[in-house]
Amino acid sequence: MMETKSVGIIGIGTYVPEKVMTNKDLERIVDTSDEWIVERTGIQERRIAAPDMATSDLASRAAQKALDDAGVTAEEIDLIIVATATPDMFFPSTACLVQANIKAVNAAAFDLAAGCSGFVYAMVTGSQFIKAGLYKKILVIGAECLSRILDWTDRNTCVLFGDGAGAAVLAETDPGYGILGSQLGADGSGGDLLKLPGGGSRNPATGETVSLRMHFVHMNGNEVFKFAVKIMGEAANKALEDAGLSAADVDCLIPHQANIRIIQSAAKRLKLPMDKVMINVNKYGNTSAASIPIALEEAVHGGKIKQGDNVVLVGFGAGLTWASAVIKWGKEANINC
Ligand SMILES: CC(C)(COP(=O)(O)OP(=O)(O)OC[C@H]1O[C@@H](n2cnc3c(N)ncnc32)[C@H](O)[C@@H]1OP(=O)(O)O)[C@@H](O)C(=O)NCCC(=O)NCCS
Repeated sequence: MMETKSVGIIGIGTYVPEKVMTNKDLERIVDTSDEWIVERTGIQERRIAAPDMATSDLASRAAQKALDDAGVTAEEIDLIIVATATPDMFFPSTACLVQANIKAVNAAAFDLAAGCSGFVYAMVTGSQFIKAGLYKKILVIGAECLSRILDWTDRNTCVLFGDGAGAAVLAETDPGYGILGSQLGADGSGGDLLKLPGGGSRNPATGETVSLRMHFVHMNGNEVFKFAVKIMGEAANKALEDAGLSAADVDCLIPHQANIRIIQSAAKRLKLPMDKVMINVNKYGNTSAASIPIALEEAVHGGKIKQGDNVVLVGFGAGLTWASAVIKWGKEANINC
């Protein structure tokens, strides 16, 4: 049987906007309290993009940092995949805007829509091109300006989300390192639970769609919560199974940062102590497709992830979707560096 290539992350970078919005700030906007938000979600503050910045701006900054971290030039990139639910516009794709910004003149580019699971979907998708021998270096980015699609009069949703971007450079790694296993999943029958109903071909923008607030996030929080609690442990276990590992082999879990209670219950289901779980939802809220790469970067550069560690990424989101991957961390093992 032909030996398949090992593919991993050889550089990672993030960008979050400077502006911090605290729970106290939100108390002045909607009927909520710092206590409620912290107790129910674990979120203390989130970042909000400056008015003149859009998703491609955040994505481009994160991408440049990932390139620098990998020691790779923009010209070496063969493909850019941007996972986002908040593209700058319908078209051109945000990936094309990033390609122009960072001058990745040799790269193909496309966006991928898988909600908060988007980064892991993009990473697994991108890795296939390298395994197949079609491309050598790929930029995968999760980037969001969720503040632009939040209904700032709806306390059920506006307290939960934030803006940010995270990017990773994928390349071939030494055998045994990189992505060892993964699972991508979807259940479109749950699409109504988390959606932005206005502006697409179903409900094109009109004065009525605006007045009905259809251009904002609509969410059934309780149902999404139940789905998340169930799927996080299941999906992580599926990726571990695919890698021939079990939860006992996990050194670090990088869960989608939506709600501390969802993260805790996922860790419990996997019987993982919380010191093996990366948490930064307190600082950024739910940054959707950006949340996993932002958490991963903080864990890597903060020393929580070491060479040879088994790292599990797991996310869930609109679609409904879920995605998980097991990575044997080994940047220095990269054969192309
Ligand atoms: C949204 C979420 C935090 C709500 O927490 P919860 O403990 O389930 O709270 P409930 O929905 O039961 O609401 C309890 C009460 O708090 C109120 N409430 C909701 N948001 C509030 C806020 N920001 N401040 C104060 N009260 C709030 C509700 O109106 C409700 O009041 P009522 O009982 O008078 O109707 C939780 O369901 C959640 O995290 N869901 C998953 C969301 C998610 O991850 N989405 C992204 C997926 S990628």
